[in-house]
Amino acid sequence: MPGNTSGRDENLKIQESQSMPDLFTPYTLKSVTLRNRIAMSPMTMYRSTSDGKMNDFHMMLMGSRAAGGFGLVFPEQIAITPDGRTSTACAGLWEDEQIESLARVVKMIKDMGAVPAIQLGHTGRKGSEQKPWEGKRQIAPDHPDGWQVRGPSPVPYGGRFPYAVQELTVAEIHELHRAYAAAAKRALEAGFEWLEMHFAHGYLGASFFSPLANQRSDAYGGTLDKRLRFHREAMDAVRAVWPERLPLTMRLGTDDFHEDGVQFDDAVWAVAQLKEHGLDLADLSIGINTDDMRDPPFSRAAFMVERGSRVRREVGIPVAVSWNLGQPAVADRVIREELVDLVFLGRPALANPHWPIWAARELAHNDPFSLLPRDWSWWLKNRPGSENSHGWPPPAIAS
Ligand SMILES: Cc1cc2nc3c(=O)[nH]c(=O)nc-3n(C[C@H](O)[C@H](O)[C@H](O)COP(=O)(O)O)c2cc1C
Repeated sequence: MPGNTSGRDENLKIQESQSMPDLFTPYTLKSVTLRNRIAMSPMTMYRSTSDGKMNDFHMMLMGSRAAGGFGLVFPEQIAITPDGRTSTACAGLWEDEQIESLARVVKMIKDMGAVPAIQLGHTGRKGSEQKPWEGKRQIAPDHPDGWQVRGPSPVPYGGRFPYAVQELTVAEIHELHRAYAAAAKRALEAGFEWLEMHFAHGYLGASFFSPLANQRSDAYGGTLDKRLRFHREAMDAVRAVWPERLPLTMRLGTDDFHEDGVQFDDAVWAVAQLKEHGLDLADLSIGINTDDMRDPPFSRAAFMVERGSRVRREVGIPVAVSWNLGQPAVADRVIREELVDLVFLGRPALANPHWPIWAARELAHNDPFSLLPRDWSWWLKNRPGSENSHGWPPPAIAS
């Protein structure tokens, strides 16, 4: 496997000899140990080449976050088929030629002491999109940058996704499960150590789970049990090729915030089911299967934490959540109170590549730079001279 983990091991030894806020306590799942509880959440950047490969932009983005102290670093959702991308500028792992571009990013993440994670997914009826800065609307299937989107049922999402959806046949569903497994094998070859399946945010997995998008009457639709069949089979296909020693996780859309959509109780049941199919950790998010949501709590701090804590308690499985956890005291508290196991940061990770180190200073950590690999932190610890020379404000005083 590419990558050098020695910096990470040294870093963990240093950390274990200190007393630290719980946000900075290492975390072990299967054979993988993260240097802290902070993950850079997957974020689609629309900056890949049209053949689905990553490039120097991704080296910059992931490398800087790994160097900034994140314990787990995800690139964006990686497509299992060409029509599983968000746009033609999004990354994929549907063929061997794409492995090398991801392996470069993986090596950089490992060299900076973080664990490289991959999120595999298919965008389903929400694919074929313009870049955000070009309008973020769905592109017509006959346009050179567009394609015919597919989903569980011929039900368009609506709004900025107006185009007809082709219903997947059972043979095509099985083909997608094989594509998941093939992409997982390539992810292993690229050196990823953590695999998350994306079943949230209105993409294919989310739409199979939601009655708003899934109106099938065969074995893949109807009852809650049948609406989870796609996920169980996808997970079985991936678990068969993804080593037992490495974490297999999923991001689930746990609530559509709509009376006819996924209800949170459905999600609690689903996580328990998927645990039986080899799920090691549940990353809980929201459905986004419709724009017509009833009072979604999008601006509330830490709004997924209470839900995450219920799943953790009732299902007995490690849980991660994202959404509005960018205030260090809030992120630290949810770990300290053992409500969730990991904190995923999206927008805060975009805004501040050094969020973990900054948070450590805000939380009066006694040696924030020690959170980084020794060779990297040496420069920060030994060369600054004073606040005037390195520009960081004085650390907060512990109360
Ligand atoms: C620019 C951007 C792109 C995103 N792309 C993805 C993605 O590819 N996969 C995914 O599961 N979530 C994606 N998300 C959601 C984030 O991973 C995260 O769950 C969400 O932003 C909430 O966390 P936050 O409040 O820390 O930003 C994206 C979010 C942003 C801001």
